[in-house]
Amino acid sequence: MTSVTAQTRTTPSETRHDPLTITLHWITAFLVLFQFLSAQVWEFLEKGTAGRLGLIYTHFAFGILLTIVVLVRVVWRIANRNHLPAATSGIKHLAAQAVHLCLYGLLLAQVALGLAFGWSSGKPIPFFNLFSVPPLLTIDPSYRHQIAGLHNDFAWIIIAFVAIHAFAALAHHYILRDKVLMRMMPAR
Ligand code: HEM
Ligand code: HEM
Repeated sequence: MTSVTAQTRTTPSETRHDPLTITLHWITAFLVLFQFLSAQVWEFLEKGTAGRLGLIYTHFAFGILLTIVVLVRVVWRIANRNHLPAATSGIKHLAAQAVHLCLYGLLLAQVALGLAFGWSSGKPIPFFNLFSVPPLLTIDPSYRHQIAGLHNDFAWIIIAFVAIHAFAALAHHYILRDKVLMRMMPAR
């Protein structure tokens, strides 16, 4: 006899990711979009204004949060034995795997560049007024310009991958009308 649980497991597109995977996914998405948009907005604000400084300090604090979330997410992705099987097969599955792998790699690289960028001034990175993360590596300030350039380039590359990824998720939902997007939505 097939139990309900076993049936659910054999129809992966009908089920949901586990709550931790879903929570980490949407916190990552919010933080990545905030990080990108904050940097675009502060560019237009005059240097030294409260608005610009507020956005930069929030970028630092959310950057520290994002670093933790990305590390927890990668460890959970590797350690979670009950991760849902792929919802698609063939070329669609390969394309999704490739984009997801690139997103993980780009996020890891971007948090490393962000930390290096912050530490290249020789000062700790503040988390609002609560604590700050002291430089764990000594970065030669002469690399600051290069690190800034890479951090900026990676920001745009990440946004391009996120756009493809989000478009694919929405296409699954609205065109293919399958359950891929709903697997990543919290249970109601
Ligand atoms: C903004 C930043 C985002 C990042 C960095 C991101 C990253 C990722 C990654 C790395 C995975 C793979 C999870 C795994 O290991 O299996 C994933 C899965 C997924 N993402 Fe995103 N995502 C973002 C935004 C979005 C948005 C806006 C949507 C919807 C419109 C979305 C929908 C999904 C869905 C449905 C899955 C699950 C696919 C499956 O079950 O195979 N993501 N995301
Ligand atoms: C996906 C996540 C992130 C995106 C999209 C992003 C994007 C950006 C962009 C576009 C800039 C402006 C670059 C420039 O001035 O040339 C910037 C600046 C900066 N970012 Fe990020 N960032 C992210 C994550 C992080 C993280 C994790 C940290 C580390 C805590 C961080 C630390 C910084 C620092 C220190 C600056 C320089 C701010 C200043 O002008 O004083 N970023 N970021």
